[in-house]
Amino acid sequence: MIGYQFMGKAHSHAYRDIPFFFESKANPILQALCGRNEKAVQEAADKMGWQSIETDWRDLIKREDIDVIDIVTPNHTHAEIAIAAAEAGKHIITEKPLALTVEEAARMKEAVEKHNVIHMICHNYRFVPAVQYAKRLIDDGRLGKIFHFRANYLQDFIIDPSFPLIWRLKKEVSGSGALGDIGAHSIDLARFLVGEIDEVVAMSKTFIKERPLGEMSGGLSAEVSSQEVGEVTVDDAVAFMAKFDSGTFGTFEATRFATGNRNKNTFEINGEKGSVRWDMENMNDLHVYFTDDEKGVQGFRRILCTEEEHPYAGAYWPAGHIIGYEHTFIHLLYEFVEAIADQRQVSPNFHDGYKNQLVLAAIEKSAEQKSWEKVDQLNN
Ligand SMILES: NC(=O)c1ccc[n+]([C@@H]2O[C@H](COP(=O)([O-])OP(=O)(O)OC[C@H]3O[C@@H](n4cnc5c(N)ncnc54)[C@H](O)[C@@H]3O)[C@@H](O)[C@H]2O)c1
Repeated sequence: MIGYQFMGKAHSHAYRDIPFFFESKANPILQALCGRNEKAVQEAADKMGWQSIETDWRDLIKREDIDVIDIVTPNHTHAEIAIAAAEAGKHIITEKPLALTVEEAARMKEAVEKHNVIHMICHNYRFVPAVQYAKRLIDDGRLGKIFHFRANYLQDFIIDPSFPLIWRLKKEVSGSGALGDIGAHSIDLARFLVGEIDEVVAMSKTFIKERPLGEMSGGLSAEVSSQEVGEVTVDDAVAFMAKFDSGTFGTFEATRFATGNRNKNTFEINGEKGSVRWDMENMNDLHVYFTDDEKGVQGFRRILCTEEEHPYAGAYWPAGHIIGYEHTFIHLLYEFVEAIADQRQVSPNFHDGYKNQLVLAAIEKSAEQKSWEKVDQLNN
């Protein structure tokens, strides 16, 4: 694994818990952790249970005792590392967004196809039991034809103007702002649940244009490192409308300026026979409404998705004994490890990452040009 902070911790923990909760066909061995600072990476390896360290990812990829490369570094590193890993015949899991640009994403997709390795992108919210159950209801036709997909992904961790210019606020490192950081998750959920997006129109805004220099310090915290200021080169907020291939009407908002909302990742889907509604801040609940419920008692009701019937939930505790954020990574990495054991592809993979990247690019272009943009016209 390359990188060892926020996502490094989430992935390390998940690998360790897979054999604890699941009957997996293969058990991951935490063979080597890579980071640029030897002392810091050794401390992280000791804490998170990795057996050895490297300080250059190129050396890590050369190692013959490693089958899988896990990329949990900032977005501008994903393409170079993933392409080199594919060329070395390693299976790859990378964090989202896949890349900075459609062109990079296309090269990554080509590399994994050419070298025939298993690939995955870490859109972990697909793996919440309640989200999986919503997908099952849609696939079983319980909502009928889908009219609306409505998603918000709201955070507020950069609202203080003295919060520093972290990598997430620099276009050359992150690709985009709230759009690629959190909007990408909503796009992936939309594609997973409702299908492909055909066309978008968007607006975006950068509220705070300059910030003191500084670095991430774990989770979504950061430390100011200098009184010098630098320019914020990404969006702080984005909103867009989308037409899906199916005719579904999509509305989306992604912002890191929604005061009081820490990680409010939500969607509501309205179909001709019913609706589902989900919110990551109460991730075990799925709210459902069905038009064929008896008149007089109709209304949204809450399902606590901790029953055997709810995907993954049965691996843990008795019903009602809830699970949390870290479990989304356990489920995703369990699927990845199973796919490697079976030598088959899994999703979301680099094809999904590429398609999500096309949507991100269309949104950016639309916000810039104030126009509707066709997603597939960016295909190259
Ligand atoms: N799936 C999710 O919900 C989710 C959540 C947060 C972050 N992410 C994604 O995970 C990735 C990492 O984000 P994070 O929040 O863990 O970041 P972070 O800043 O907490 O950690 C980044 C790690 O990468 C290392 N690093 C930075 N630049 C490097 C370089 N050039 N070469 C080698 N190592 C380098 C840092 O030392 C650190 O260990 C990003 O792509 C981000 O978009 C995904």
